[in-house]
Amino acid sequence: MRGVFIKPVSGVEGEIRVPGDKSISHRAALLGGMAHGETHVSNFLLGQDCLSTLRCLKQLGVHWERQGTEVWIRGEGMEAWQEPSDVLDAGNSGTTSRLMLGVLAGSPFAVTLTGDASLRSRPMRRVTDPLKQMGARIMGRQDGNMFPLTMSGGQLQGQVFRTAVASAQVKSAIILAGLRASGETKVEEPALSRDHTERMLRGFGIEVLSDKTIVRVHGGGRLVGQDVSVPGDISSAAFFLILGSLVGRGELILPNVGVNPTRTGILDALRTMGADIEVLEVSEICGEPRATLRVRPARLKGIEIGGDMIPRLIDEIPILAVAACLAEGETVIRDAAELRVKETDRIRTVAEGLAALGAKIEELPDGLRIQGQPYLRGGQASSLGDHRLAMAWAIAGMLSKEGVSVEDMEAADVSYPDFLTVIEKVAQ
Ligand code: S3P
Repeated sequence: MRGVFIKPVSGVEGEIRVPGDKSISHRAALLGGMAHGETHVSNFLLGQDCLSTLRCLKQLGVHWERQGTEVWIRGEGMEAWQEPSDVLDAGNSGTTSRLMLGVLAGSPFAVTLTGDASLRSRPMRRVTDPLKQMGARIMGRQDGNMFPLTMSGGQLQGQVFRTAVASAQVKSAIILAGLRASGETKVEEPALSRDHTERMLRGFGIEVLSDKTIVRVHGGGRLVGQDVSVPGDISSAAFFLILGSLVGRGELILPNVGVNPTRTGILDALRTMGADIEVLEVSEICGEPRATLRVRPARLKGIEIGGDMIPRLIDEIPILAVAACLAEGETVIRDAAELRVKETDRIRTVAEGLAALGAKIEELPDGLRIQGQPYLRGGQASSLGDHRLAMAWAIAGMLSKEGVSVEDMEAADVSYPDFLTVIEKVAQ
């Protein structure tokens, strides 16, 4: 339970290479394990969540080696996967769990999956119900809604699904199961969620048809090992976009940040608020666009967001709430009830955490209402084991009057192990 005092800063300066994208790292490891031939992943995220995916793959008999942020996966196809001799532990990782359930739904053996206390309280029915409809057998707590769950896969049948929530984890689980099902599998979401699975599958040689919020795949395709270069994670960059916008002076440069349009809601929201962010040197590698971002201080004003924008910035809402506390006027975030089933109930934990630091913030059933103020006082806040809260509180501390003492700061290791070192390096 490491507590760290984060003191206020008056400026920032420097270049920050944010670590690899969490969503893309998970997918590179999984698809590499499913493919035939070698997959080489560079800039793999060494966060705890992605290491959980690698560990689970090893238990399933997939051979891989890692040196720093480079991973080599010796893909022998899913036929070579073996029944694990112990429970698979997804740790804190929703993505490992949901995607792994999808991949394993078509395997002829039994697997039990579990995770930490947070993951064991998160809903899995959104994935297990469709997988059961496709033919998987799943048993566990609350009739298959909560970890630990035991799945014994088998012969799957392609189906048509309309999901209740825009969730890339749900969509991906269904698509991945669909690759091993007979016939076609179709998923329609209420709004477009991140599309990394679709893009990467195409890179691995699978035909994926997508039209706005509809995705279709055919079973029986063969994945071929690839080189995957993972862009920097825009969800990690977001902390610096807000720090660089609201600090007194200086400039931050963030090279090689993923700017897939299904993830850039935070850029759109901050620019609407008045942020000075430039998107430079855009290129596309391995089907994923990336760019250098440059941020300079600006006066921000409040914003109203909701609807289709929410899935495009869902993970950035804790740090966006920090920005809203220091923007002029009111910010209202709606249609974001999904936040209640993230690593913590992020509507409640963000509202309570920021209120304790002096913010004027109100919890709504599906979002937050925040009144901007000229400054945040600071004080004490706990990550409650949630990585994005740990980092949001640290940035709030840098932008506050008195600093913030962050309890359980090590939760940041889930997606950004070097976070503290980096903020110390750029602080002036
Ligand atoms: C993720 C999807 C998002 C996001 C999570 C990672 C993914 O969740 O919040 O951090 O890698 O697919 P949803 O499944 O709710 O979209």
